[in-house]
Amino acid sequence: MSVPTVTFNNGQKIPVVGLGTSGGYENQIKQAVKDAIDAGYRHIDTAHFYRNEHEIGEAVAEKIQEGVIAREDIYLVSKLWNCFHREDMVKPALENTLKDLGVEYVDLYLIHWPHAFKDGWELKPYDENGKLIFSDADFCQTWKAMEECVKLGLTKSIGLSNFNRKQIQKILDIAEIKPVTNQIEVHPYLAVQDHVDFCKSKGIVVTAYRPIAGQSKLSKVSPINDPIVLNIAAKYGKTPAQVMLKLQLQRGIVVIPKSTNIDRIKSNIELFDFELTLEDLRSLMALDIGAAGRTITELECREHKDYPFNDAF
Ligand SMILES: NC(=O)c1ccc[n+]([C@@H]2O[C@H](COP(=O)([O-])OP(=O)(O)OC[C@H]3O[C@@H](n4cnc5c(N)ncnc54)[C@H](OP(=O)(O)O)[C@@H]3O)[C@@H](O)[C@H]2O)c1
Repeated sequence: MSVPTVTFNNGQKIPVVGLGTSGGYENQIKQAVKDAIDAGYRHIDTAHFYRNEHEIGEAVAEKIQEGVIAREDIYLVSKLWNCFHREDMVKPALENTLKDLGVEYVDLYLIHWPHAFKDGWELKPYDENGKLIFSDADFCQTWKAMEECVKLGLTKSIGLSNFNRKQIQKILDIAEIKPVTNQIEVHPYLAVQDHVDFCKSKGIVVTAYRPIAGQSKLSKVSPINDPIVLNIAAKYGKTPAQVMLKLQLQRGIVVIPKSTNIDRIKSNIELFDFELTLEDLRSLMALDIGAAGRTITELECREHKDYPFNDAF
């Protein structure tokens, strides 16, 4: 299975389906990455925060050693965590990720969230009252340090994650190197069409995280069981997950479904032998319930000046 690519505003190409890896640990995630590469995935999404970069690096290294792929065949994405926003922490944080992954560069490095935590290596620093300790680091300064990482060859591209439209515009206003993507939650109950239109108008590709919004215990909503999704899936002899992923692909959105199950890993990439009709797309888009469909809200950060969901997303 060979996955098509989309071309970013800097000319680089990313496979439109990648493997999500959050919540996958140790042998389970290592095996999942190897299974995914064997199934044809050439794009892996991870982050320092997922604490699995070492295992992912091992899986990629084994597949390179087996001759299945070369380093340049695989598109590796990682993310700068919230405690590393201060300008002088960005490069060390990326270098740490490169060491864990066992590679000399990542293909894409994202600012994971616009809001920053207290600087340091503690991922979630809490005070004695159990409140997260914020930092008022300016994400535009963080972006400048991200640009330096491109110039040093530590990452090929840089981008954003969970930034709202105003925040993206702030970055665009100061950027020497434009963000190539904003990685955000998107699925049938959360279409964020205004956001998608805005990004398109700025030459920024949207990447959909939680595109299945399926089995997660965190999910308040489950489009995977929605009768409209089930009917369309039955019509094509496809799974509900494949219909949800195809919806985003036909909207021009990159998808990164996570699975550690070999059958689901394989089926989540089998998306290129059917097309949803305009009528199917309309029915699926009508499932949008706006912000109520968002399952990842990071509510404990809502008092931060840069919390992205206090403004129109
Ligand atoms: N930038 C951010 O802030 C951010 C936030 C969240 C996620 N992400 C990224 O986006 C990726 C995807 O998001 P996600 O993991 O939250 O959600 P997701 O990919 O939409 O859903 C994953 C869940 O669905 C199950 N699943 C996978 N394929 C399925 C299928 N074909 N049928 C039914 N269930 C299926 C998985 O279980 P099994 O493993 O058992 O198959 C898992 O429980 C993450 O892994 C991460 O890389 C980024």
